[in-house]
Amino acid sequence: MVGMQSYPYVITVSSEKGGVGKTTLATNLAIYLKALDENLPVSIFSFDNHFTVDRMFEIRGQRTTGTVADLLLETPGRDLIHTGQYGIGYIPSSSNLSDLKDIVKTPMMLARLLALSRIPGIVVIDTRPDLDILTQNALFAADRAIIPVKDMPSLENCRNIFALFDQRGLDRKSLALIPCLVDERIKFDGPFADQKTLLKAYAINRGYRCFETYISKSPKVESLNTNPDGKIYPILTHAKLTEVHGQFAQLAQTIIGEYRGTAEPRALLFHQWLQAEEERKKESFFARLSGLKSECLLCGRPASGQGGDRISFYFEVSDGSAAGFFDEECFFRLLMTNVYNLDTNLADDDPTLLIMRDAARESTFVFRPVSNGSGTTVEFHRFDLDGVHHLKKTYPLREFEGGMLRRERSRLFSLMAETFGSRLDGTPGSFLLVHPVHQEKPEAILQEENYRGLTRLKQRITQQVLRPT
Ligand SMILES: Nc1ncnc2c1ncn2[C@@H]1O[C@H](COP(=O)(O)OP(=O)(O)OP(=O)(O)O)[C@@H](O)[C@H]1O
Ligand SMILES: [Mg+2]
Repeated sequence: MVGMQSYPYVITVSSEKGGVGKTTLATNLAIYLKALDENLPVSIFSFDNHFTVDRMFEIRGQRTTGTVADLLLETPGRDLIHTGQYGIGYIPSSSNLSDLKDIVKTPMMLARLLALSRIPGIVVIDTRPDLDILTQNALFAADRAIIPVKDMPSLENCRNIFALFDQRGLDRKSLALIPCLVDERIKFDGPFADQKTLLKAYAINRGYRCFETYISKSPKVESLNTNPDGKIYPILTHAKLTEVHGQFAQLAQTIIGEYRGTAEPRALLFHQWLQAEEERKKESFFARLSGLKSECLLCGRPASGQGGDRISFYFEVSDGSAAGFFDEECFFRLLMTNVYNLDTNLADDDPTLLIMRDAARESTFVFRPVSNGSGTTVEFHRFDLDGVHHLKKTYPLREFEGGMLRRERSRLFSLMAETFGSRLDGTPGSFLLVHPVHQEKPEAILQEENYRGLTRLKQRITQQVLRPT
């Protein structure tokens, strides 16, 4: 149930430029948010490996279990959050995130993990000065991405972030710039009287949104991570007399307003989408399942897999008109008598028979009716499970076989008649595909991932079967 769970509102602080104040912004913003509303759960984690978050928030002697690496390895986020200093929850940093880049293949992975994280309130994410796959993940998961800019080069660099959003077709409106490390002493002549005004004018000119607030450069703030205790002190507690304090309070106020104005954070929307996707998969599975023939087409017995029968093959007409399962013995007998012309009196443990059976379990078969002036034939193909072609033979399609005395209805004819019906002599392009399945769980082949694999195989086979000769 979507409504009962917690979905975090996600704030990502990111810029490709190093040293623009990202980490200072992320960590202090978390503290100001909490100070403005102590009932609001606020948590933070960093994709950087400098452990600033840990140094700032861990409580002395606190035992920690798990890191952001575990978050990426699918541990629910809520289980990784440690309540730290100032009431901020933090996920411990990791020094070997770069080893995990292989498993973070898509830029939407974090969005999914946060959607399922059950983390309440606001989550702040600090990123590395890089647009690597982790930063991309943090940006795409964000309800609000804050991009600090301190000068023209860092402003120019923003272009890459905006381009990333444009490429993915994502709305730019979650992105907003904030001038940081602004030196108030620098004044210009002309309309842009100072750094922040100049940066804002350029940003707006390029179509980038900017926060009303900016963050000044302050020697006091700069000194907060240089002290005999080796600690990093917050602006709120140790630089309360600076302008920066007021600026952070104002920024936090703005962000809380945005947070409260967001009824459905991205994590919630993403979770709803994930659930809809699950439902869709289930529905197509059941649709495929309910389209199956209820009896084995070869022997007519219920294809239930019960009563000692073993279902071992799935079949499907390529145009989707029929699908179902074959009992293992029925299909083997068809192969033996009608395809490979083996003696039906061979002992069960005859080596020829055993080899034929083993090969059949590793094969995909095609039966294709082909009509020409003189009647209908059946083109038979054997492929391996990767769609590599191994054998092609053509058989006349006759209803009866055997001499006048032992007339028997041909199994091959029955099969073709059952699957193609009246279209038997006019179905260009259609064929019957037979694929082995797991005896324990034959219907698993119709589940989303497996069926997608089968569809790919079908495409490969279709190209080869229908290729003009
Ligand atoms: N408002 C400020 N006034 C003065 N110095 C600041 C201010 N904000 C940050 N600094 C200092 O600037 C330096 C860089 O800040 P910070 O580490 O937050 O930047 P960053 O963008 O996270 O860097 P990196 O890209 O290396 O992660 C630090 O020494 C920090 O103390
Ligand atoms: Mg940093």
